[in-house]
Amino acid sequence: MMSEQPISYKNYIAGSWVEGEGTIPVTNKFTGDTYAFVYQTSRDQVTEAVTSAKETFEKDTLSPTDRYHILSKAADIMKERKEELAQVMVAEVGKTITDARTEVDRGINTLVVSAEEAKRIYGTGIPIQGEQGNEGKISYTMRVPVGVVGAITPFNFPFNLTIHKLGPALAAGNTVVLKPAEVTPVIAMKITEILEEAGLPKGYLQVVNGYGKDTGQYLLEDSRIAKYTFTGSAGVGKHIKAVTGIRKVTLELGNNSPNIVHHDVKDLDRAVELCTTRAIANAGQACISVQRIFVHEDRYDEFVEKAKNRVERFVVGDPSNEATNIGPLISEDAAKRVEAWVQEAESQGANVVTGGKRDGSLYHPTILTDVTADMKVMCEEVFAPIMNIVKYSDIDEAFKEANASDFGLQVGVFTADLDLAMKATKKLEFGGVIINNVSTFRADIMPYGGVKDSGLGKEGPKYAIEELTDERLVVIDS
Ligand code: SIN
Repeated sequence: MMSEQPISYKNYIAGSWVEGEGTIPVTNKFTGDTYAFVYQTSRDQVTEAVTSAKETFEKDTLSPTDRYHILSKAADIMKERKEELAQVMVAEVGKTITDARTEVDRGINTLVVSAEEAKRIYGTGIPIQGEQGNEGKISYTMRVPVGVVGAITPFNFPFNLTIHKLGPALAAGNTVVLKPAEVTPVIAMKITEILEEAGLPKGYLQVVNGYGKDTGQYLLEDSRIAKYTFTGSAGVGKHIKAVTGIRKVTLELGNNSPNIVHHDVKDLDRAVELCTTRAIANAGQACISVQRIFVHEDRYDEFVEKAKNRVERFVVGDPSNEATNIGPLISEDAAKRVEAWVQEAESQGANVVTGGKRDGSLYHPTILTDVTADMKVMCEEVFAPIMNIVKYSDIDEAFKEANASDFGLQVGVFTADLDLAMKATKKLEFGGVIINNVSTFRADIMPYGGVKDSGLGKEGPKYAIEELTDERLVVIDS
């Protein structure tokens, strides 16, 4: 599968594969071995990449149907290389093979949907002829690509979330400069190889590897980039917003996702199964991972007991093993940070029902009770397989606690009461309110994005295309 010698992946600039000014090792997140390396891109190379993207955009050679065919062909190639792509993520992310295969399937679907959307980018008819004095005029809006897009992608879903940026950006007729997360860059290089093989002409996509503080920063400082699309932490998102001024940004940031299980939940076992499974998927490293669970007092003891039983059956360990449910976190430092947060919560009165254990970069699935809103495990984004279970007696109190967060990406509510569900959709201040499923629910076609510190703008190919195009008004005076 993986060769013994580290494989080098060059940057992709102006249609050529080029070395950079130094190398960045890519480790296998479970074994710690260096299995690949990428090149650090210099400032001049970033400038060259943006120049190539800008010149290509100005030539504008691809029609919507060309874009459709190229993206569809890339999706077909990905289908043939599914297992190879999944294995890359097992190695460089530490994703379990099951999670990795799921992500590959999702990413291919995201690309297919993006391809389809290339053919249906609508404008609007404006009935200005209905206004006195404008009878002879015709008006409409059209959506035009913004130009050069700077895409900065995260480590946690480096296949699907990269495609969520490249697919819609290219479908809309933009050109892109991509900076993948420096800890998981290989899968982005595979996507790039595949797009090239599918016939994407040179200049439409550039890939510049490197660290955020230099390569990422060079990208932010290049004012020829019209739009940035970023997934990552709220801190970096705020920095991007501050540096890029009035240029457009889409920011998909964090969450400390709440889920409410009301006393009338139709199937408590299902709620337990979904909450626990989606708290530990991808080792909890998802912005919408189940983190805070508010359970009505009538069902609380039963929920905690069932959740404990289920969580204790999860297998922690080697992500390449088919039986493993939870692989390593992205680094040992990340696992140490989680360990410190859990220990701090314990010292502040939290009860560790199960878990609370670290082995190197593995963090065991953990249930905490007796937690308070000010503990880091509750108020920060924990990004680990940690579930905090909180008892409530009054649903308005649960809504209030769910909302008491700097974040607002998605929330889950389990109830059999339609009126209560409707109330939840009005009272909960989130980008998405999911009824009878968990905060982690995501279909890749849906609009995905949060309020407050969870970010700005939406992803999901159709919605991303709106963010990646400008509305241009046309008035024709006959
Ligand atoms: C994210 O972490 O924001 C993405 C989660 C997902 O797509 O499932």
